Amino acid sequence: QLSATPPVARRESIEDTSRPIVRILFGTQTGTAERFSKQLGNELRSRYGESTSVDVRDVETYKSERLASEKCVVLCMATYGDGEPTDNAAVFYNWLLKEAEAVDAGEKEASLTGVSYAVFGLGNKQYEHFNAVGKKVFKSLKTLGATPVCRRGDGDDDGVIDDDFEKWTAEFLDALDKSDDLVGKRIDQNGGVHTVSVPTYAVDVLPAGSASAAQPFPSGTGKDVHSPFWAKITTVKELHTSQSDRSCVHVEVDVSGSGISYEAGDHIAVFAQNGDDIVAKVAELLGFDLNALIRVSLPANTASANDLPPPFPGPLSVKTALAYFADVLSTPHRDALAALSTFAADREEAAKLALMGSTSPAGKAEFSKYIGTTKRSLLEVLQAFPSAKPTIGAFFGCIAPRLQPRFYSISSSPKPHPTSVHITCAVVRDEMPTGRIHEGVASTWLARHGAGTTVPVFVRHSHFRLPKAAETPVVMVGPGTGLAPFRGFLQERAALSASGAKLGPAHLFFGCRSRAHDYIYQAELEGFLAGGVLSDLHLAFSREASAKDYVQHHIERRGADLWALLERGAHLYVCGDAKHMAKDVHRAIIALVQAGRGCSGTEAEGFVKELTDSGRYQRDVW
Ligand code: 2AM
Repeated sequence: QLSATPPVARRESIEDTSRPIVRILFGTQTGTAERFSKQLGNELRSRYGESTSVDVRDVETYKSERLASEKCVVLCMATYGDGEPTDNAAVFYNWLLKEAEAVDAGEKEASLTGVSYAVFGLGNKQYEHFNAVGKKVFKSLKTLGATPVCRRGDGDDDGVIDDDFEKWTAEFLDALDKSDDLVGKRIDQNGGVHTVSVPTYAVDVLPAGSASAAQPFPSGTGKDVHSPFWAKITTVKELHTSQSDRSCVHVEVDVSGSGISYEAGDHIAVFAQNGDDIVAKVAELLGFDLNALIRVSLPANTASANDLPPPFPGPLSVKTALAYFADVLSTPHRDALAALSTFAADREEAAKLALMGSTSPAGKAEFSKYIGTTKRSLLEVLQAFPSAKPTIGAFFGCIAPRLQPRFYSISSSPKPHPTSVHITCAVVRDEMPTGRIHEGVASTWLARHGAGTTVPVFVRHSHFRLPKAAETPVVMVGPGTGLAPFRGFLQERAALSASGAKLGPAHLFFGCRSRAHDYIYQAELEGFLAGGVLSDLHLAFSREASAKDYVQHHIERRGADLWALLERGAHLYVCGDAKHMAKDVHRAIIALVQAGRGCSGTEAEGFVKELTDSGRYQRDVW
């Protein structure tokens, strides 16, 4: 979804309406829904050949008014954040839900009666709103009169999501085979022999000096993913004390001269790059010349392969392409291993890669053992199978996923910092089961690159906002880097106060391991407290005593006070870990409402839902 100019015009002009068309639309944030959509597209092409036309596209490039004239649409829709659509799907999703609401309210007729559809949702069961987007899309299409081809697929990223997709794909294809007119005639697939598809870009290698290298991203306004702005990093500062064995950095980027305007509570996306050491290792393993200039494009006859635009136009040096566009530190996907196997010169290596890339029970078991449980990265796999040397076109086409931008909650307010965006970034460094130290690409890059470097960024606006009236009480819960947006909120309140506004009470619940190690922004928070910008600061240090002390324990203890604030119209904010913290805090909130109102748990949940619906309970969780 990062391509600036999707080849819509070209593809629409060759669309042949005499054949049935299966339209596959994806809503993707990290690339999985895109990968699955391409995979399904290839599967359909090899199954129905010329008899059926298949169109895979980013839902952002799709005109929703076309939906009513479709015969068969497939939606691969990921859920992101707190049950929200991905950025590229937001417009389509909101439109669809609105249309369905209008039908439900009797204001509109169901308009999709002739349309057949299938939905595969992507999510993670650890999150509260598992597959909320897939579920709502499925339901809304039904409300609009469309007919499901098969059951909704629910992919769970906490398990093996590729297996969920494969199972659902089989059911979907089976249903298509049985349909009368959704697809053309099925072709004999090589007598049942499965061939590995290796979607490959065409690559021009330009002689050194024949062209000047382009930027990996053209300089843009910074207003969205298609137009990142090259911001200068002005500050990088460690926030943990020297006693901490972890790192969290405060980063400031200068966005003056861009089109960016932001509010406290927004997000900033950073396109970071792989370190030179990683890039050099990949190039050495694959025999790529780092200084060669390359231009990648779709091959002329792409219809049967990878029909989405390449991630970068070029010409770029191989070094830049590897740095900005190849995700080599994540675990590889099954298809990538299958593709890699076709390049392995060594027979044993080829056989093992092919096995892991296959969907046979033995292949799945091997994949799960070698990749799933041990979390081997693509780079480790390349090191372990040195005879597998894909071409550059195949490497970017189907082996290395595209490196994705990383989103951070902005930790400043534009009131004191109109042209500077602050980031509070925990540096990801985890030991993997193989003993490998996994270093997060973006956080490591940010921590290592001091002031003076530039980085492509864009701002994403959110709904996470302080109340309109400064007097409305606020309750903020943000352990760890969940503190980030609240630092912005507090800066905002300080500015409001300085300009004469009367501030309502503000409680902050912050948690970390210990006061001595990772109590970030301590002096600032204490300053806000002393200055009345913050009325109460509740600190939970989880590793100072034998029992865990977490933010929700403090919320429980102050339940009655918080209830009194809620009765005064307080706004409630939670930021940070979604899998555990936000759920536990949610439970504590329900409990305090129940106690405050003297009502049942169900009624308390209803009350909290109303708070959410009216924008008084907001979450920025990941
Ligand atoms: P821990 O690492 O000692 O378990 C910021 O990461 C803080 O959030 C840490 O003090 C961490 O504690 C704590 N934390 C971990 N799990 C949590 C949970 N379920 N609820 C609230 N805080 C949690």
